[in-house]
Amino acid sequence: MKKYTAIKDISNLSNTIKEAILLKMNPFEYSNLGQHKTLAMLFFNASLRTRLSTEKAAKNLGMSVMVLNINDAWNLEFEDGTIMNANSSEHIKEAAQVISQYADVIAVRAFPSLTNKEKDESEYVLNSFVKYATAPIINMESATAHPLQALADAITISELTQKAKPKVVLSWAPHPRALPQAVANSFVEMMQNLDVELTITHPEGYELNPKITKNTPINYNQKEALQNADFVYVKNWSNYKDYGKVLNQDANWMMTQDKLGNAKFMHCLPVRRNVVVEDAVLDGKNSIVIQQANNRTYAAQIVLKQILENL
Ligand code: CP
Repeated sequence: MKKYTAIKDISNLSNTIKEAILLKMNPFEYSNLGQHKTLAMLFFNASLRTRLSTEKAAKNLGMSVMVLNINDAWNLEFEDGTIMNANSSEHIKEAAQVISQYADVIAVRAFPSLTNKEKDESEYVLNSFVKYATAPIINMESATAHPLQALADAITISELTQKAKPKVVLSWAPHPRALPQAVANSFVEMMQNLDVELTITHPEGYELNPKITKNTPINYNQKEALQNADFVYVKNWSNYKDYGKVLNQDANWMMTQDKLGNAKFMHCLPVRRNVVVEDAVLDGKNSIVIQQANNRTYAAQIVLKQILENL
């Protein structure tokens, strides 16, 4: 693997999922692979799972890890030809090349503004690192995608499914703050590449980017969509059409035990209890969110392994 900025960077998805499950059983099997190699993790935004699981994955492979909260460094400029006489002190052209001298792999987390759709969709932060760094880039959640989360989700469903083609439902949930579409986008893209029956349910007007959802069925009736579901992935996202706005906080869309039935409950975390999902679901036997979070390590580890093998 040359980089992991999008799901399409995985050349053989089913083998990658199987290999990740094997790594989980024997996490130190390749503990020499990353010897004398360094991962630099750059965070423009907060993280708990991504930060710790990716660091753990790298260490399982014998890598050294450096973490930089970008807000502690110089303000970066991303525009070409700018007269840098305002707040930016360093251009991404120098920064990316410098970091590439210190690290063999660079992982970046950079959320969207949710105010400028065109700029967010250009993925200018992630793509600037891809353009100017000489080390492979890993996406730890960008403006429009969270492919490490989606790989962990795929591993979790593969581990738990008892059917050849399980029914998977992505269900929108209310949230008081404007959240990115990244997790939902990558989950949809990942499920489109697996042998599952995927349905999306959300209030009318909350459609995700149609270039991502393509012909995946959308049902505005949550109850109907959830019928016979095996896995229910709950996630809020802010409005895509009226970009970044919170237009609906209808508590009727919160996931409840009654709606979930016997399906497995999935969420990427962090999650707001009794806003997105009621306590009874999160504390119930069908919640698999902790297993999902554990699988973040093995998703990151298989990605790092495949990148290290290509260095
Ligand atoms: N799911 C996820 O990416 O968690 P963090 O934001 O805590 O990294």
